[in-house]
Amino acid sequence: MPMLDDHVVLVTGGGSGLGLGVARYCREQGAEVVILDVSAAKVAQLQHEWGSEALVLQGDVTRLADLRACRDAIIERYGRLDALIGVQGIFDGNLPLREVAEERLDSLFDEIMHVNVKGYLLSARVFADLLQASAGAIVLTTSTAAYAADGGGAFYTASKGAIRSLVSQLAFEFAPHIRVNGVAPAGIANSQLAGPSTLGMAEQKQSDIPKDAFLSMFRSISLLQELPSAEDHGPLYGFLASRHNKIMTGQTVVADQGLLNRTLLTRGA
Ligand SMILES: NC(=O)c1ccc[n+]([C@@H]2O[C@H](COP(=O)([O-])OP(=O)(O)OC[C@H]3O[C@@H](n4cnc5c(N)ncnc54)[C@H](O)[C@@H]3O)[C@@H](O)[C@H]2O)c1
Repeated sequence: MPMLDDHVVLVTGGGSGLGLGVARYCREQGAEVVILDVSAAKVAQLQHEWGSEALVLQGDVTRLADLRACRDAIIERYGRLDALIGVQGIFDGNLPLREVAEERLDSLFDEIMHVNVKGYLLSARVFADLLQASAGAIVLTTSTAAYAADGGGAFYTASKGAIRSLVSQLAFEFAPHIRVNGVAPAGIANSQLAGPSTLGMAEQKQSDIPKDAFLSMFRSISLLQELPSAEDHGPLYGFLASRHNKIMTGQTVVADQGLLNRTLLTRGA
């Protein structure tokens, strides 16, 4: 039987990159998939591609009204929700703190924290009752930036550290009804991860970095030497979102190709 047969799974930030890869995997595994994404263009594209086979909604995870509308649409169509997979995020361009103009500190903090942290908190709150009713699961996305320096600038790193802690707290608060776990990826091929508009970087995407340069940089620092695709992350997210996971809550899986385990002194061929 496919892993997610008889599951309704919501992927917030599932319009591209990691979330879309995970959503595709969940569909392959039998789930009814709901996507909520802020990008109208990505939503229109997916509505066209999937037709009535999935519920693809435009909405902003930082807006309570959008999350409530999403909840209403899920109840109307499916009457239940078995998993919330949070994937939305924006990057800070790796900008060192001292290079951020003082006048931009407030707005940059608000923009990044609202998407990368508040969006996860609001979603967990809005969908908790539905998830409790189905003895469901929450899977949140952090990053290796939450574990080691230089995975982002100070703003991104702080936001990802917050999600790592949020996993622990929500697992505690929602037990025994809802299992809550996290995933900390390193690099993802074909990511559209955008910068903050506060710094005029909303149109800059990770995929703008020349593919070969990104690949060879990643190969040089990771043990498995492959830059994983979004779909490669599907089985891990799928398992944590499914009822097959009876053994983990409050954990974050570092899915980093061995990036954080490399030796400091020598490097394998
Ligand atoms: N790209 C990487 O190498 C990498 C590494 C580690 C962790 N991550 C994390 O993975 C997650 C997904 O990133 P990605 O690389 O797939 O980027 P992506 O930009 O392709 O996907 C993020 C999605 O979130 C959506 N989104 C942004 N703000 C939103 C909002 N307010 N409401 C709803 N949707 C919103 C975007 O439209 C986009 O579709 C992020 O949390 C990111 O921090 C990425």
